[in-house]
Amino acid sequence: MGERGVIETKDLVKAYGKFIAVDKLNLRVDEGEIFGFLGPNGAGKTTTILMLLGLTEPTSGAARICGFDPTREPLKVKRITGYLPEKVGFYEDLTATENLEYIAALNNLPRDVTSRKISELLDMVGLSEMSGKKVGTFSHGMKQRLGIADVMIKDPKVAFFDEPTAGIDPEGIDQVLTIITNMAKQKVTIVLSSHQLHQVQKICTRVGILSKGHLVAEGSVDQLGRETIGGGKFRIEVQVSEPTSKLVKSIKNIKGVTNVESSGDLLLICCDKDLRPQIARTVVDSDSLLVQMKIEEYGLDDIYMKYFREQ
Ligand SMILES: Nc1ncnc2c1ncn2[C@@H]1O[C@H](COP(=O)(O)OP(=O)(O)OP(=O)(O)O)[C@@H](O)[C@H]1O
Ligand SMILES: [Mg+2]
Repeated sequence: MGERGVIETKDLVKAYGKFIAVDKLNLRVDEGEIFGFLGPNGAGKTTTILMLLGLTEPTSGAARICGFDPTREPLKVKRITGYLPEKVGFYEDLTATENLEYIAALNNLPRDVTSRKISELLDMVGLSEMSGKKVGTFSHGMKQRLGIADVMIKDPKVAFFDEPTAGIDPEGIDQVLTIITNMAKQKVTIVLSSHQLHQVQKICTRVGILSKGHLVAEGSVDQLGRETIGGGKFRIEVQVSEPTSKLVKSIKNIKGVTNVESSGDLLLICCDKDLRPQIARTVVDSDSLLVQMKIEEYGLDDIYMKYFREQ
């Protein structure tokens, strides 16, 4: 296995008895990437993350985090990784600050940096005012925010966020996404498992879609859009008076058009750019009248739905 990817898996398998939760998974995530790990409930996302963290043992195959084997070198992996689990657990009788102090101590962070850092982090996640309150009194979203501070306290090289925005209010979601984006700018490598496709699309450099333990698609949202949606990020629907084959041919010849289909007086055009002006001119230059034109931009929702509709 090459040693360059910050995260690498080779034919990684996790079986629970006869049930295969993760099936020969090959992943590679590079430094500073935000990798969106997607897939329906039960697809195997959390199981994969647990294997990468050394918290559950693979049945076969290999995983490496910065070259370390999570099964054989769990402490080395623990030192460089941060993890926000699906269900964050804190000491409910301790305050937010005390919980973070405890985590800092567990990670052998020097005391003098700890207190300044804790207050900075609590501020960053919007919990300054709650710092002295017992975590037992926190709402789900507040615990989630504290979980993000927990991930950041040891300056991890690699951070795994399993549904980080679940239960967080809309303003908070923006804050969380900004924090994650800023971590990546500091070269932290991030894996973000989420069902919130719009959020993922906003910040992820690359996504992988997992289905029943298999990686069914992987790439940037743009790339996947082109590969899966008949080649093209945009779909333009044009209604014309005379949908002649000559007109279809002329539109096909426009640079950037990847596909044209006609159905009655409608032309469905796939393209990489918004080519409405060029298409309008071509229609007007033909013998046809332009009745109307609509444009749709494809996003991660469409790509995702396409994979799961076809199964
Ligand atoms: N300890 C376990 N014992 C048996 N089966 C398990 C265990 N942990 C997970 N599974 C099964 O493995 C599959 C994958 O679960 P996993 O939690 O990885 O899914 P996920 O993609 O994280 O789903 P979600 O989006 O709901 O969080 C599921 O079918 C689950 O029931
Ligand atoms: Mg999960």
